[in-house]
Amino acid sequence: MKILVTGGAGFIASQIADAYISAGHEVIIVDNLSTGRTENLNPAATFYHMDIQDPDLVNLFHNHQIDVVNHHAAQMDVRRSVDDPIYDAKNNVLGFLNILQACIKTGVKRVIFASSGGAIYGEQDFFPADESHKTQPCSPYGITKLVGEKYLFFYALTYGLGYTILRYANVYGPRQNPHGEAGVVAIFCQRLLNGEQPVINGTGEQTRDFVFVGDVVAANLRALQQTGNDIINIGTGREATINDVYRAINRITGANQPEEHGPGKEGEQFRSVIDFHHAQTVLGWTPRMDLQQGLLQTVAFFKSMQKT
Ligand SMILES: NC(=O)c1ccc[n+]([C@@H]2O[C@H](COP(=O)([O-])OP(=O)(O)OC[C@H]3O[C@@H](n4cnc5c(N)ncnc54)[C@H](O)[C@@H]3O)[C@@H](O)[C@H]2O)c1
Repeated sequence: MKILVTGGAGFIASQIADAYISAGHEVIIVDNLSTGRTENLNPAATFYHMDIQDPDLVNLFHNHQIDVVNHHAAQMDVRRSVDDPIYDAKNNVLGFLNILQACIKTGVKRVIFASSGGAIYGEQDFFPADESHKTQPCSPYGITKLVGEKYLFFYALTYGLGYTILRYANVYGPRQNPHGEAGVVAIFCQRLLNGEQPVINGTGEQTRDFVFVGDVVAANLRALQQTGNDIINIGTGREATINDVYRAINRITGANQPEEHGPGKEGEQFRSVIDFHHAQTVLGWTPRMDLQQGLLQTVAFFKSMQKT
């Protein structure tokens, strides 16, 4: 298949591009390198340094005769979306619409869309949330992800464009960007390995469902076989507090830094955990990586980065 991977220089999608290439697919990557890194680009992929809002994007679709779009390019920082919702919407809504228009003009068959279980369900009514949980995003980022899902529904209904929406929990693992405000595991790893003091936002008793990037990649491989249109949670069904994660990384790195807490952040819910049984039924997918093992691998990655 010819697959366009947007955001393929980033944390998650670069590893999806690697897996697609290993499975024998032809991969084209579009990324504006706003947070992505050229080091993450698979040399076997055709890379375009381009913004998804670029009106010329449709020519690229024509030239490559894309079969499937795997859409991961996004402004994905919840706090930035609160500070600058217009920037967030330009990237996540207008950028995605530009892609969808290119899809219908050039005969693309399917779109795999990286959505967010964490951000879309908001403060949950039940735990873990399955796909039937009501959507009540409490950040502009969550709103734009939900809008993306609604547009997919419209394009499927009107033009027959197929879709698989993957609602991820909190993804962590090698290649995550430790420099922004998002990605707590990467931030803790980097700071603790550098002997710096990380700040835990709020009490640290807020919970998240941490899913390893390798498991997310496996779900994206399986999603290529889908034929119907579906919304699928990709998480572990288990909660860990931010304090739990801090303590585990503190121990694995041997940093032994005391815990320092700062104010809680706007736009972030207190408890977040999602149910993966639908993924098990329709994709044959279950999360394989246990959190402790995943953190060990992630710390090992950040250690190896320090040496290069
Ligand atoms: N990391 C998580 O926990 C998580 C959870 C739920 C959903 N997601 C979604 O998964 C996707 C990938 O997230 P990630 O964690 O790998 O983040 P990331 O920032 O590493 O990857 C995003 C990539 O998209 C690129 N990009 C951003 N805006 C672009 C634009 N306008 N045009 C072209 N390229 C652009 C960036 O340069 C980067 O390479 C995002 O859509 C995000 O919303 C991530």
